Amino acid sequence: MRDGAGYDLMVQRRREHFERVNGLREGSTGSCPGCGHLKEKKFKDVNFEYIGGEPLAAAMNIQHYTMCNERCTYCNFSVEDNFVPPQYEFLGYLEEFRKRGKLRGGNWIDFSGGEPATLKSFDEILNYFLSHKLGTIVVYSNSTVYKQSIYDALEKNQIILTTSLDTGLASTYKKLRGLDFYSKVVGNLIRYRNSGTSGLWLKYVICDINRTEDDLWSFIMAVLAIKPDKVMMCPEFAYGAESFPKETVEFAAKLWYQLEKHTGFAPVDYTTAFKGPKWDRYRADLRSAVEALKVKRPLKSESKLKERGMVRAAKSRLILARDRALHSALRARILPDGSTQLRIARRVWGETVGRIAFLRV
Ligand SMILES: C[S@@+](CC[C@H](N)C(=O)[O-])C[C@H]1O[C@@H](n2cnc3c(N)ncnc32)[C@H](O)[C@@H]1O
Ligand code: SF4
Repeated sequence: MRDGAGYDLMVQRRREHFERVNGLREGSTGSCPGCGHLKEKKFKDVNFEYIGGEPLAAAMNIQHYTMCNERCTYCNFSVEDNFVPPQYEFLGYLEEFRKRGKLRGGNWIDFSGGEPATLKSFDEILNYFLSHKLGTIVVYSNSTVYKQSIYDALEKNQIILTTSLDTGLASTYKKLRGLDFYSKVVGNLIRYRNSGTSGLWLKYVICDINRTEDDLWSFIMAVLAIKPDKVMMCPEFAYGAESFPKETVEFAAKLWYQLEKHTGFAPVDYTTAFKGPKWDRYRADLRSAVEALKVKRPLKSESKLKERGMVRAAKSRLILARDRALHSALRARILPDGSTQLRIARRVWGETVGRIAFLRV
């Protein structure tokens, strides 16, 4: 192949897909037209030669494979038995853009799959994102495999790790995900927690298997043990269904209420960016079910809980800002690694803002 032909082909394919999504060309548009992150731009501002530069969730979604060590009942890859190894050399793809100066930073990168921690090239890919300072990286991992690289990046607040735990019961976990890995996953999450990160997120995907009282209360205990920085909730994407079972909405509301009550911070609704009437209805039903629970049994110190949640969020933001600055290209330019200036700056920090315990470096 002529040098540059691969790059030209990628640019052409991107242009063709854009044309299909905008009705300018026949062919499959995949799920793109329903995406909540579609953004309107003037045609003159669209440039297929560059990649990246959009800090929108999933604007850079790394998913060049679907192979995984679990078999979650709710996952489409399990339903269709569609587990495939990497389909192309992912870093080679990015390199074609980078070496032309056409790979932009400031992205929101979802590193998903399949199970990323089972990729042979996981460390290499993560390291590429970090060393080229490509933006915020969210690693979606089932956390069955402990990775030192994940721990190290968490410790420096260079990534966010999202793990769907979906229950606090080993028996439900096995039924739901096909493997008896609950205790291993919790053990790995606690190890990751000990990195001191602000970026450990848990997720509860609600489906027919995990909406019992035992699942709910055991999950709350797991949250108290793992102390994640966020808990996200999401009903199982019911492919093709027009609405969600009322049991799922009721469970979501109960889980929301009890998490607020016992952990002191409100969970995050993972569906907020999803478009369409079924999602609007789900959100409205969830809101009114949570309100109804609060009317029946008001949270005694709701304002205190809110205050605690706000303080916690502000603390996390400060830690993140510190770590972003610490690992930024600008800092490396002004205060190079190993330099006297950096040593002095560290000392000054330690004796001023760094006296606040959670901001110490
Ligand atoms: C496809 S997985 C890939 C990454 C990794 N294996 C994991 O499980 O985190 C990415 C995310 O999609 C979620 N997911 C998969 N199927 C889903 C479904 N039917 N409904 C809702 N969330 C789903 C998973 O829980 C996970 O958080
Ligand atoms: S661990 Fe992730 S990719 Fe694997 S089956 Fe479950 S949801 Fe799908």
